[in-house]
Amino acid sequence: MYGKGRIIPALIIFLGLMTSPIWLQLGNASKTPKPEKPKDYTECVEPTQYMRETHMLLLNQWRDDILREDADMERNDPKRVGHTANGTAYVRSLQNGCMNCHTSKKKFCDECHEYAAVKPYCWDCHIQPKEAM
Ligand code: HEC
Ligand code: HEC
Ligand code: HEC
Repeated sequence: MYGKGRIIPALIIFLGLMTSPIWLQLGNASKTPKPEKPKDYTECVEPTQYMRETHMLLLNQWRDDILREDADMERNDPKRVGHTANGTAYVRSLQNGCMNCHTSKKKFCDECHEYAAVKPYCWDCHIQPKEAM
């Protein structure tokens, strides 16, 4: 026979264990990624929310647009140059575009990617900006 005196503490321990993932998650909130914002620019090539969700597809789009064209395309070809909402010109390129504004792969791209556990293989070929380690 079990007395009330034992069931209640057992129940509390049981509930504690069942909900522990929630408590552990709360402790992890400080780890959410904080990608470093560019200092010299105020807006991205597309609205920020769109960039957060869709930058991978946008990069593929740029690559396909550019590689389908002549490799020797002029640098000021409209397919190569885009404008932000406020008219800032940028080159549609991973190295010369994205990384021209987002100068640190480590403090920007990696900040989110490590959190999301994705490892884009782009840097096998594309040169990443030189950074002080
Ligand atoms: C002209 C400069 C410029 C270029 C080029 C540029 N960005 Fe951005 N990007 C910014 C700025 C400034 C912000 C911050 C906007 C804000 O605070 O709302 C930003 C925001 C972002 C964000 C959201 C970050 C966050 O804090 O959630 C992502 C993701 C991103 N950019 C990826 C890219 C990628 C990928 C490329 C190339 C395809 C690119 N950007 C090209 C300036 C640029
Ligand atoms: C605000 C957070 C954030 C920032 C900043 C960010 N990314 Fe991402 N990126 C993600 C997430 C999350 C995924 C995975 C998305 C998915 O699988 O749906 C991803 C996926 C990708 C992928 C596809 C990889 C794959 O294996 O599917 C590429 C390419 C990519 N990012 C490039 C970049 C580049 C280049 C930068 C820096 C200029 C950058 N990202 C900055 C959050 C970010
Ligand atoms: C096997 C090597 C290789 C890998 C891996 C690779 N690329 Fe490329 N990429 C190239 C080459 C070569 C070009 C053509 C160079 C040019 O015309 O500037 C190119 C061109 C591009 C361009 C247009 C030109 C420019 O200056 O950026 C984009 C955008 C691009 N790649 C994005 C990506 C992304 C995003 C990834 C990762 C998901 C990736 N690439 C992975 C080799 C590669």
